[in-house]
Amino acid sequence: MTVVAVGPGDPRLLTLRGQQALREADLVVGFKTVLDVVQPWIEGAAVRPMSYRDQEEVLEDAAAQAALGRRCVVCCWGDLNVSARELLERVRRRVDQVELIPGISSVQIACARAGLSLEDVLFITLHQRKEPAEDLAELVHYLKDNRRHIILLPRPWDLMPAGIASNLLDQGIPAERPVTIFQRLTLDGEERWQGSLEACAALSQEFSDLSIMVFPVGTSPVGSGAGAPPENG
Ligand SMILES: C[S@@+](CC[C@H](N)C(=O)[O-])C[C@H]1O[C@@H](n2cnc3c(N)ncnc32)[C@H](O)[C@@H]1O
Repeated sequence: MTVVAVGPGDPRLLTLRGQQALREADLVVGFKTVLDVVQPWIEGAAVRPMSYRDQEEVLEDAAAQAALGRRCVVCCWGDLNVSARELLERVRRRVDQVELIPGISSVQIACARAGLSLEDVLFITLHQRKEPAEDLAELVHYLKDNRRHIILLPRPWDLMPAGIASNLLDQGIPAERPVTIFQRLTLDGEERWQGSLEACAALSQEFSDLSIMVFPVGTSPVGSGAGAPPENG
């Protein structure tokens, strides 16, 4: 069984090793949006989309096929080491040997667009815990600490940018603190919003489930120019 991380959305950002694993696979499974990315690289494999409801059943079936010697690939969005633990644990529970093929994370693309080095960044995801208060408390702590840029994955749909910003204002983070939100990185309709925490809290616009918030250290917004997406997307 192999887990292929497919990158942040643009199929051209799938690694060569990932492409090879998909070409050689007998069965490819994954959430539908993830399979859409890898479609161009699949040759003879059977493709089985899964949903949150039937993922256990689909993975069980893939594990059974792998036990019979078939080459099975589970696809994962972005990189497999970034906020993808649940899926990896589901796979590891079923098979002893899993090959992991990493990919490019949306977090790396956000760093590139914002002109930030990963070593200066702290990463927080609101996806991982059932009780998000703990993650929000951690976010407040590091914003007050103000030593590293923070990259935050909001949680569709209950902890999205405007709600997170109002929560931070309530917790005493200054209203003028800059925030950048990247939506749909590397995909059609990629967008960047930039403003203060206060302006973010007042936003009524709906953000995509593919959104990343960046809180740069200090009072300046993140850079534009160098990290801008190429004109052809
Ligand atoms: C469960 S996490 C998985 C992250 C993934 N493993 C990665 O490395 O990008 C999903 C979250 O990642 C962020 N994300 C993934 N792809 C994105 C993209 N193309 N643009 C903006 N945010 C993205 C969003 O915050 C989304 O809700």
